[in-house]
Amino acid sequence: MTIALIGLMGIQIYWIQSASAIKEANFRRSVNEAMVKVVQKVERLEKSKSMVTNQYESMLNFNRHLLYEEFLTTSALDSLINLQLNIRGVDTRFEFCIYKPERQEFLMERSPNFRKELIEKGRAFILFQADIYTSPEYLLIYFPHEKQFLLTELWGMLLISIILIIVIVYSFTYTITIIFRQKRLSEMKNDFINNMTHEFKTPISTISLACEALNDKELRGSGDFLDSYLSMISEENKRLAGMAEKILQTAVIDKGQLKMNKEKIDLHEIITDVIKNLRIQVEIKDGEIKRRFKATRSQIEGDKVHVTNLVYNLLDNANKYSPKKPVIRIITENASNGIVMTIEDNGIGIGKNEQKKIFDKLYRVPTGNIHEVRGFGLGLNYVKAIVEEHHGKISLESEVNKGSKFKVFLPFMIKE
Ligand SMILES: Nc1ncnc2c1ncn2[C@@H]1O[C@H](COP(=O)(O)OP(=O)(O)OP(=O)(O)O)[C@@H](O)[C@H]1O
Ligand SMILES: [Mg+2]
Repeated sequence: MTIALIGLMGIQIYWIQSASAIKEANFRRSVNEAMVKVVQKVERLEKSKSMVTNQYESMLNFNRHLLYEEFLTTSALDSLINLQLNIRGVDTRFEFCIYKPERQEFLMERSPNFRKELIEKGRAFILFQADIYTSPEYLLIYFPHEKQFLLTELWGMLLISIILIIVIVYSFTYTITIIFRQKRLSEMKNDFINNMTHEFKTPISTISLACEALNDKELRGSGDFLDSYLSMISEENKRLAGMAEKILQTAVIDKGQLKMNKEKIDLHEIITDVIKNLRIQVEIKDGEIKRRFKATRSQIEGDKVHVTNLVYNLLDNANKYSPKKPVIRIITENASNGIVMTIEDNGIGIGKNEQKKIFDKLYRVPTGNIHEVRGFGLGLNYVKAIVEEHHGKISLESEVNKGSKFKVFLPFMIKE
């Protein structure tokens, strides 16, 4: 397509160039014709004048023409030239003079400002060629705006070509970006499906192993085993339900059908609950979660389930993306009309380029082919949707290998 486009532009340029060459040739021919006519008219004027005034003298030195002042004025010559040019469609400003090269003398001129241009760039037409007694005199004509005049006629064509080329180039780049975006999306979807299958496989195989064990008549006898297998099954089942819920939730967000059950909730209570659930996972890695509740007013209007999930997702990320000894800080503060919750970790951090994208659906920061940490790339997309649903704000500060800091603002009241 690029080659075709360049080819097309080349042809376009070639056409415009040849069109302008034709225009120029036409212009030259029209000027020549007009000036030949003017020269004839001037000579005829002189002849009729000389016949009337000094018949005898002219008979004596025939062919020597009269002085220009005797039969011609500058304005008369001007209108003569003007008329002839106009007939031929040459409608641009011109300068002229009658020049005698032998004596470098201007016998007639409209203004002395264009002498240099007239001699250097003007077109010359010899006057009184038949007069063999006087040295040659020329009628010079010069068009100061010749280039512009020729261009104005081509302007329309040039403009349309340029606009069309811009349109083509624009749609071409647009198409290309769409194709690349589509490609990235399909890669992300593939990743997602791989991840999902993997995530679902673990609980499914755990459950099926537990079921097998329960089927074993010998094991079934002891009550302890029964209990532990049953709780294992129910735990894994909960995990499966949670994952299914997460995926379904995203579909709901996509359709814009997120349902909010607004009530008075206490953010500090919610945070405390979430920390309780996550504590073990962090402590396994020898890490800790530190909380500092600086907010004196912790009640907000919101949906308890969604806000719990929001806090859970952020804390879960902080833990997941801190490979060694996570130290996670969660701080709340009061702002003028709400609460600011800061969740800070000392994990792998997020690069500048990725920071904008991590809130996109299915986006996960690429770490080569293998992801050590499993996930769907849905968590932050959900978090953002919930924050917006509460008319809050979320922001991120992060540095690679130093850690990340998510700031969430939630207002006391949700204004409609
Ligand atoms: N605290 C953090 N530190 C470093 N990187 C993070 C952090 N939080 C998120 N990320 C990056 O942002 C990406 C998107 O996060 P998100 O929570 O949306 O998805 P996920 O954690 O991969 O999957 P899940 O849907 O299970 O939460 C993650 O894959 C990770 O690369
Ligand atoms: Mg996550």
